[in-house]
Amino acid sequence: MMSSEIVLQTFNLGKKYRHRWAVREANLLVHRGEIFGFLGPNGAGKSTTIRMLLTLIRPTTGRVEFFQKNVLMHRADVLSRLGGLVERADFYLYLSGRRNLESIAALGGNISKKEIDEVLHLVGLAKRADDRVKTYSHGMKQRLGIAQALLRQPEFIVLDEPTTGLDPQGIKEVRELIGRLSAERGITVFLSSHLLSEIEQVATNMAVIHRGEIIVQGKVGELLNDGDTVVRLIARPMDYTKRVLARLSFVKRVVAQGDELQVTIGNTDSSLLSSMLMKSGIEIATITPLRSLEQYFLSITEGASDVD
Ligand SMILES: Nc1ncnc2c1ncn2[C@@H]1O[C@H](COP(=O)(O)OP(=O)(O)OP(=O)(O)O)[C@@H](O)[C@H]1O
Ligand SMILES: [Mg+2]
Repeated sequence: MMSSEIVLQTFNLGKKYRHRWAVREANLLVHRGEIFGFLGPNGAGKSTTIRMLLTLIRPTTGRVEFFQKNVLMHRADVLSRLGGLVERADFYLYLSGRRNLESIAALGGNISKKEIDEVLHLVGLAKRADDRVKTYSHGMKQRLGIAQALLRQPEFIVLDEPTTGLDPQGIKEVRELIGRLSAERGITVFLSSHLLSEIEQVATNMAVIHRGEIIVQGKVGELLNDGDTVVRLIARPMDYTKRVLARLSFVKRVVAQGDELQVTIGNTDSSLLSSMLMKSGIEIATITPLRSLEQYFLSITEGASDVD
């Protein structure tokens, strides 16, 4: 397996509003070149996390590193390498798309007309660039928002629900655009969505957030592999537990998330896992089967009974 550079890592990132944690102990890991899908139902904590990534709000706990640098300590440097789209971008409706980008470019300095032409072309707005934004469809405004995020040739872009409110055609266009940014420009993309199908179609890697907690993360292909069951396990002692898991033939994968282990087992019943662990003298604090990630995600988004 190829090891690649870590471009974003969060360490026990958390945000508390009054008495409630909107995000709790989030440990996200994104490598260069990934299209990272951040999936979670409404209110899960996606926007809160993204605002912390972009330094729009301050974390209550933990920290964010982009390019191995603490984002709060190297803010200008890091932000100059990022592009972001948080909820709906605000534009001057009576100016053209191009003029809007020019006015944003003027704030940052040093962006040529040629670069503006290039991003307009990239997002598919070249033909309408000189029309007033007032005349744009929602999808076109959304693409102008992405164009704005691309202005300073970022290495990494963060898009909060870029397809919200778009029709199927608009969604398809944004999806293709994200694919192009990745394939043609090598930009690492972090995008949030509340739709599993959307993440599944565009992302290479993903994390699921629910009630402020990262439930699972990994490669999309592996996580959505039908028939596999993911088990959340908290057991002591941790290192010994990992060694025992490594010897079990039905264990396909083990991922550590803080003091929790995510154990992917085949079609095996999770009760076999717990009995094998107990036989080895391991103390199990929690063991929660998530069935397939897909079923699990549907159950939480449809508000069906929670697994925990
Ligand atoms: N400024 C704030 N003050 C108090 N609570 C907040 C604030 N911002 C967000 N929250 C709460 O934090 C939780 C997470 O909200 P957040 O906006 O991050 O969710 P989300 O995953 O982006 O949801 P959506 O899919 O609806 O955009 C929610 O319970 C929300 O009410
Ligand atoms: Mg949101």
